[in-house]
Amino acid sequence: MFPLQRNRRLRTNESIRSLVRETSLSPQDFMLPMFVAEGKDVKVAIPSMPGIYRHSLDNTIKEVKEAWDLGIKAVNIYVKVSDNLKDNKGVEAWNKDGLMQQTIRAIKDAVPEMIVMPDVALDPYSIYGHDGIIENGQLINDATVDALTRMSLSHAEAGADFVAPSDMMDGRVLAIRKALEENGHHNVGIMSYSAKYASAFYGPFRDALDSAPVDSQNIPKDKKTYQMDYANRIEGIREALLDVEEGADIVMVKPGIAYLDIVREIKDTVHVPVAVYQVSGEYAMVKAAAERGWLDHDKIMIEQLYCIKRAGASIISTYFAKEAALLLNK
Ligand code: PBG
Repeated sequence: MFPLQRNRRLRTNESIRSLVRETSLSPQDFMLPMFVAEGKDVKVAIPSMPGIYRHSLDNTIKEVKEAWDLGIKAVNIYVKVSDNLKDNKGVEAWNKDGLMQQTIRAIKDAVPEMIVMPDVALDPYSIYGHDGIIENGQLINDATVDALTRMSLSHAEAGADFVAPSDMMDGRVLAIRKALEENGHHNVGIMSYSAKYASAFYGPFRDALDSAPVDSQNIPKDKKTYQMDYANRIEGIREALLDVEEGADIVMVKPGIAYLDIVREIKDTVHVPVAVYQVSGEYAMVKAAAERGWLDHDKIMIEQLYCIKRAGASIISTYFAKEAALLLNK
C-alpha cells in the first residue's frame, strides 16, 4: 500500500521544520567559563584554546559585561594564582582577599544579576596539581572535604550565587550544604560536578591554569582515584543521585559530546536541572579542524550545542558561549 506516513512532509521547508523542532537553543542556555589571572591589563592567549584568554580582573569585568549584553546569565570562574601561593593544603583557596574572592566581589558589583559560580577544588592552589591534599602518595578524602568546605564558605561570603565543587571527593556536597546552612547562606546554591570523568579532554584547561598533576615520585600521575572511569555508566547515575540526596541544586556531567548517553540517563533519573560542561579539549578539536578548513566552525559549534541540549542539558557550560550567542542573536 502507498505509505500513509510520509515523514518528509514535516521537513519540506524551514517554516514547517521550525514549527516541529523539538529542541531550542538560546544564549540563556549557556554559562561562560572564564580564566582569571593576577595583575592589571593582562590578556594572555592560551595556545591550545584559540580565542580564549587568561584575563586580569579589570579585563574580566569587561568580558563579563560583554557576555551579559549577549544574553549570557552565568559565568564559571577559574583562577590562576602564582606558584608562591601554592602548597599541599590549598590554604590560599579560602583567603578572603584571594584572587577568586576578589573576582566574585568585583563581578557581583559590576553586573549584579550575573550568576557567579566559582570552581571549588584545590588544583589551582596545589603544588602537586591535584584537586585535594596528598598524604603518603594518596589523595586523602575527608581532610580535602574540610578544605573545600572552607573554600566554599569564603566564596559564599564574597557573594557567589552558587559554588561548584569539581573535585569528586566523597561526601563533599553534604558537608558544603551543611556549612552553608549553618552560616546563614541558605540561598547559595550548589552545582555539583557529579559525573566527572577522568578525561584526556581536559588537557588544554590544564595548560590554561598550568595545573596538570606534577610528574614526581610518590605523587599520583593522574586523577583516576577520584574522577570516574570513562567505561562506567551506572556509577555516573549513582553519583548524580547521591549528590541530589546530599543537597545539590544542579548536577553536572563532564565532558559533554562523548558522554551524552550519561546526560540522557541522568536527566531521566534525577529531578533537578542537569548541566553539561563542553570542556576545553572539545573546544580545541573544533577550533583545530576549522583552522585547517576541514570543518565548518559555526555549523559544528551550533550542531554540538543543540545535540547537548537534545540529550537533556538544561544548561551548557561552553567556551563557545559568546560566539554562539552572537550567532543566535543575529
Ligand atoms: C579542576 C577542573 C578541571 C576542569 C574544570 N575544573 C580540570 C581537571 O579536573 O583536571 C576541566 C575543564 C575543561 O577541560 O574545560 N578541578
